[in-house]
Amino acid sequence: MTFEYAPAPESRSIVDIKAKYGHFIDGKFVPGKKHFATINPATEEVLSQISLGGQSDVDKAVLAAQKAYTKSWSKLSGKERGKYLYRIARILQERAREFAVLETLDNGKPIRETRDIDIPLVAAHFFYHAGWADKLDYAGLGKSPQPHGVAGQIIPWNFPLLMLAWKVAPALATGNTVVLKPAETTSLTALLFAEVCQQAELPDGVVNIVTGDGSTGAAIVNHPGIHKIAFTGSTDVGKRIARAIAGTSKKATLELGGKGANIVFDDAPLDETVEGIVNGIFFNQGHVCCAGSRLILQEGIADELIEKLKVRMAKIRVGDPLDKNTDLGAINSKEQLLKIQELAIAGDAEGAQRWSPACTLSAKGFWFAPTIFTGVTQAHRIAREEIFGPVLSVLTFRTPQEAIEKANNTPFGLSAGVWSEKGSRILWATQQLRAGVVWANTFNKFDPTSPFGGYKESGWGREGGKHGLAAYLKEGK
Ligand code: NAI
Ligand code: MG
Repeated sequence: MTFEYAPAPESRSIVDIKAKYGHFIDGKFVPGKKHFATINPATEEVLSQISLGGQSDVDKAVLAAQKAYTKSWSKLSGKERGKYLYRIARILQERAREFAVLETLDNGKPIRETRDIDIPLVAAHFFYHAGWADKLDYAGLGKSPQPHGVAGQIIPWNFPLLMLAWKVAPALATGNTVVLKPAETTSLTALLFAEVCQQAELPDGVVNIVTGDGSTGAAIVNHPGIHKIAFTGSTDVGKRIARAIAGTSKKATLELGGKGANIVFDDAPLDETVEGIVNGIFFNQGHVCCAGSRLILQEGIADELIEKLKVRMAKIRVGDPLDKNTDLGAINSKEQLLKIQELAIAGDAEGAQRWSPACTLSAKGFWFAPTIFTGVTQAHRIAREEIFGPVLSVLTFRTPQEAIEKANNTPFGLSAGVWSEKGSRILWATQQLRAGVVWANTFNKFDPTSPFGGYKESGWGREGGKHGLAAYLKEGK
């Protein structure tokens, strides 16, 4: 006998979405000139009109950030800066439900994740960095390290407010001021964060938010008043940014794509491993740069594990992101859905076997069923390219050495996972893997104290922890 889940929708009445938004510059909302719609990807409902920032908006924002840097922010002690960060962190906690609902509406991710993962981690990042603000001289980064000045920050749509926190919290803690651009499909929580800055009475111009598209991002990158760039997004745009700043004194951290290997040895506890695989690839609809998107199984357990995985996948609830029972929400945009569909079709054409559980997908909005491909070889596009969706590619191996070779056979190097009962095997494997983050017997665990970043085409530099602070500081005089 199976029990059906009754609908358990979270109310959206807590959020107040305006019909139109401007930019947040010098502590005030200023109207934009051109606008574009932001929609709820689960329903295609238009939520609001967002301003498309141009060169003059970016100029004003950079000027405000420069002024705030010289007049107020760089004059404050670390202890005083820390107070603002603590205040922001507490307001974020107080307004957590509002942020969770708004993020779910604008992004399509399940409320279970925004409520239990995104927003608590956002607050944790501000608390963590608040604690550092008055201790930078003791962080092992040299005697009285100094901020760069104005940081230009460009973020993606997969974890909108969390990526803002990863960027804004360390920048402010280290004494930099900020011009941030959210992604075009998910600007609403950044604009609500602007209200939090006002509520916390953060000095005007310390945080500026200019909304817009790639051209707005490029205007920030190329602005001569920007001293440091922090970018998270596609490897393509990351390379463009690297080219744009070559030969300038601008510093940059780039968090780019990934094709994370999740290696399962034949002594792994299979039921727990299945949970980790599901979390590794179906968390946030697979819109995760460090997703475990290549499952690399030891041959002896491959069939049994795939059977268990299919049973588990049949239990994934796909649907209304605001429903508290939902596991897999909507794909963030039509463009992203088309990209996932195109790569899945390439998987079929190249001879891999596709499987998805039976599930009903709504006709409105953008949806993709949880999917696995077995019989994948290293030459297949679905083994090489980032799909950034709920699609898992399964490969197999015989010897531990072969597992490592397959795992490292990628232009990326952001994350990896190892599943085994044997500690020595885990230590051996983690040392061979060319990836910035390696999880053992778990996956997709995040913490502000832990540095995050990639090898090879997955990016430059680290965010989080002490290493993340270093990116916002230069040697003191
Ligand atoms: P994208 O890299 O184009 O967008 C990320 C951010 O960069 C957005 O705010 C965008 O407006 C901005 N941007 C775009 N062009 C720019 C430029 N020339 N200069 C400065 N900023 C610019 O990513 P997109 O198109 O949304 O997604 C495409 C693919 O990228 C995805 O399918 C996925 O594979 C990957 N991706 C990876 C992410 C990650 O976390 N590693 C996040 C988002 C996308
Ligand atoms: Mg949206």
